[in-house]
Amino acid sequence: MKPIVMEAIDVVKSLGEGAGQVLALKGVSVSLKGGELTLLMGPSGSGKTTLLSVLGCMLSPTAGLVRVSGRTITGLRPEELAKVRRQNIGFIFQSYHLFPTLTAEENARLPLDVRGERSLDALDKAQQALIAVGLSHKFNSFPRDLSGGEQQRVAIARAVVGAPSVVLADEPTAALDRENGLAIMGLLADIAKDPARAVFVVTHDPRIEPFADRILRIEDGLLVADEARTRRLN
Ligand SMILES: Nc1ncnc2c1ncn2[C@@H]1O[C@H](COP(=O)(O)OP(=O)(O)OP(=O)(O)O)[C@@H](O)[C@H]1O
Ligand SMILES: [Mg+2]
Repeated sequence: MKPIVMEAIDVVKSLGEGAGQVLALKGVSVSLKGGELTLLMGPSGSGKTTLLSVLGCMLSPTAGLVRVSGRTITGLRPEELAKVRRQNIGFIFQSYHLFPTLTAEENARLPLDVRGERSLDALDKAQQALIAVGLSHKFNSFPRDLSGGEQQRVAIARAVVGAPSVVLADEPTAALDRENGLAIMGLLADIAKDPARAVFVVTHDPRIEPFADRILRIEDGLLVADEARTRRLN
């Protein structure tokens, strides 16, 4: 049996205040297993980013709870949550979110620097992560000198450099052309070959369905489908 590395149980999340208040999640349960790439699909405004943010400990649920490797993390103090996030979770965003004044190597090693890892170890791990995403020739390039696909590869290197148990990605291919989008999905599917690591990808793009081991569909704050797939690509 594949281990569950992250779970959300009956998560409710309300956003906004007063008349503008929205129930973005209305009781969602999800378990992410090591060695699996799970896609979350659904229309705009259905709650995808909200669910990703709750799983990523960036938003706390209004009700329900989140567990990481069996440990309930909902209700932890902010500094403890930040530690869980740093140690267990890697993030990838649609718009890369790289630091413009740092090189590819410096961007990739940031999570290790924040953890206070020894500088030489951090350098070695950052370089290995960049090599794994095909950027061995771009260690010293700045984001402005990289293509969108290359910037997203740096973001993937940064997300996995600290060996997180979960990688969360919000529309990671949305800003890329078809070829680069498929290449990025191939890299994410590679990461999910590690039985200790779960990859969770929010997407609108049906072309990336073949990379999934599992597809969840969300509508109006509720999961409406959960299907296991046989991964056809990568
Ligand atoms: N800060 C906020 N205050 C009030 N409502 C919010 C806030 N953030 C999001 N919402 C609402 O919560 C709902 C879910 O938003 P969410 O961003 O999770 O959707 P999404 O599925 O990621 O959409 P998209 O595909 O457009 O990115 C939407 O109705 C949105 O308008
Ligand atoms: Mg969104």
